Amino acid sequence: MRAVLGAVAVSAVVIATVGSASGSAAPNGGASSMTPDHVGDFQLTDTTRIGHRLSYYQYAPAIVLMSHKVGSPLSIAAAGELAKLQAAYKDKGVLFYMIDSADTRDQAAAEVAAKKLEVPILVDDLQLVGEQMNIQREGEVFVLDPKANFQVAYRGPLDDRFSKAAPDTRAPAAKAYAASAIDAVLARQPVANPRVADKVGQTIAFPGRAHAADFEKISYSETVAPILQKKCVTCHQKGGIGPFQMNSYEVVKGFAPMMRETVMTKRMPPFFADPHVGKWSNDTSLTPDEAKTLIHWIEAGAPRGQGEDILKTHAGEAPEWPTQLGKPDVIVQLPSFNVPASGVIEYQHMVVDNPFKGDAWLRAVAFQPGARPVLHHITSGYSPDRSLPPADIPGSSVGSYVPGAGIQVYNEGTGAPVPAGGKLSFSMHYTTNGRPMTDVTKIGYYLLKTPPEIIRRAAVISNPIMAIPAGEARHKEVAYLEFPADALLYSVHPHAHYRGYAVELTQITPDGKETPLLSVPKYDFNWQLDYDLAEPLLVKKGTKLRVKWIYDNSVHNPANPDPKLNVTWGEQTWNEMMYFRVNYRWVDETSHHVRNDLQAKLMESRIIGFLDENADGKLQPSELKGPYAALRSRFAELDLNHDGGLDLKELAAAGMTHGAAKRLAETDVEQ
Ligand code: HEC
Repeated sequence: MRAVLGAVAVSAVVIATVGSASGSAAPNGGASSMTPDHVGDFQLTDTTRIGHRLSYYQYAPAIVLMSHKVGSPLSIAAAGELAKLQAAYKDKGVLFYMIDSADTRDQAAAEVAAKKLEVPILVDDLQLVGEQMNIQREGEVFVLDPKANFQVAYRGPLDDRFSKAAPDTRAPAAKAYAASAIDAVLARQPVANPRVADKVGQTIAFPGRAHAADFEKISYSETVAPILQKKCVTCHQKGGIGPFQMNSYEVVKGFAPMMRETVMTKRMPPFFADPHVGKWSNDTSLTPDEAKTLIHWIEAGAPRGQGEDILKTHAGEAPEWPTQLGKPDVIVQLPSFNVPASGVIEYQHMVVDNPFKGDAWLRAVAFQPGARPVLHHITSGYSPDRSLPPADIPGSSVGSYVPGAGIQVYNEGTGAPVPAGGKLSFSMHYTTNGRPMTDVTKIGYYLLKTPPEIIRRAAVISNPIMAIPAGEARHKEVAYLEFPADALLYSVHPHAHYRGYAVELTQITPDGKETPLLSVPKYDFNWQLDYDLAEPLLVKKGTKLRVKWIYDNSVHNPANPDPKLNVTWGEQTWNEMMYFRVNYRWVDETSHHVRNDLQAKLMESRIIGFLDENADGKLQPSELKGPYAALRSRFAELDLNHDGGLDLKELAAAGMTHGAAKRLAETDVEQ
């Protein structure tokens, strides 16, 4: 991609305080009713699969969290009253969430739909947030003060009606505990009743908490170090990209609070697919058990215990060249680049002549970064020599590098085409780390000796006429491609710039059913990952692959270069992209029987796909936007078959297809 994304390392505000239960005991005492002084940073996903990171809401004057349990009348009543508070404090910018540590996301989503709940439910499926907050029951309200490091300004029932087991919400509350606490936080005054210990509502079971005494027995040597070895050390070792080397217990112990924070906020390991959607062969994330073990061990004080320190005895160095396939057939050396000690570096674009003799087919690509600690990622593209006749099978990406990825091996029997001639281009993202370094990256290409049976294809789902209004916090853009024949999906790659907040890929099968294939609840523009499907997915003829991007163009997005800008498509840092690459094969295509016709038909479907919000395959007047808006006034005359929507044929008759297609082609720079 030629996108110029400046490399600002805007990491979320680090909340140093580990939520500790050492704080104020509720009046009736006992360890089980301890309330933490502060709530440490976390990220949870709501029932609509949008991620919420506490530190992202640093700007809010107050945050209200309430524990919820599906199917309980008290929770439903409390949710209704919480929604009223939410409405009352909307103008003041107070944020409201429910936390459900008792149910699955599907259960919580069903309840939101059935009871029309208005306050979002954050699903605490690992129970780590509920454990940290020491949630005991449903209906417990926490009023947090973001300006005081997320201090728990109030904990207790919503109001005195909820001090009774069967709350009667017909009468107004006599003591509006939560509302008074919010008022006090907004006025920066002490809260009159910071802890109200009335115990109502059903208890929520936290099996982990029952075993808390065992956490200090978790073995560093046998349990913790092997997890770190497997999931972190590839990057956090000598020569790796991680900012510190996990090569001894002492280092791990020193970084333990920070490690806890990165795991609780799902920043590390860097893999951002929602674990409930899809299965990925390159999934590097922690399993639920691994995450719990790590957090519990850290919370128990990260004890050393007995046994060997395998991080020390097995400490190694990131290998220069992955060895699975031996020496590459062709090695390309990119021009050198001097990375300064500090500052922001715009994307660097390096272009080299196509090094392959004649038409080539890639079977694997390995990157050998010259300055691993500062090379964040590389994307690439192929541009043909325009003086030659167009190739039968067009070229696309010639590999991408992300830290820790090692070698990219394409699916068995497939290959990526690189037609003869032309150029290979590389877009390099560098981050500075305090010391100047010179990068000379080498790329090793493994070629197929004969053309493969199967052509690995690429296409981009995008909306080139995207428009994000200035200041909008959760702006949605959708676009799809409709597959004109059966295909097998291999790999997917979302891409946006600084305002990208969340992204989802769904498939809409011809029966109209929509199912998610990839969900990234909280996008991180620093990590341009490919998500490789564990098993190729059959995309049936007539299926739409639809992408939904959510953008945060508000002043509250710490990475936003300019919240006052109405943002449109562009490659510069201040522009955006609504971009999503998919890699697949046509089931009916082999290299002896090339189906460029299918590819062309697929691409044609974009002309409808980026406007057709209700995904019915044609454009109603309200869907005619941007350059298409002009068609509205002539709609009746253009709708030749009078079905209330414009299809491809009717658009072509209106003279729209060609220009749009040309415009769209420009978004295909790098696939
Ligand atoms: C794919 C490479 C990679 C893997 C795997 C990885 N890290 Fe990191 N880690 C990084 C990079 C790069 C950074 C620098 C910050 C960034 O770019 O997001 C980092 C930063 C960190 C930080 C510092 C955070 C900060 O705010 O400065 C901690 C702590 C951390 N990682 C812990 C872990 C743990 C624990 C694991 C395993 C469970 C892990 N990392 C796995 C690459 C990795």
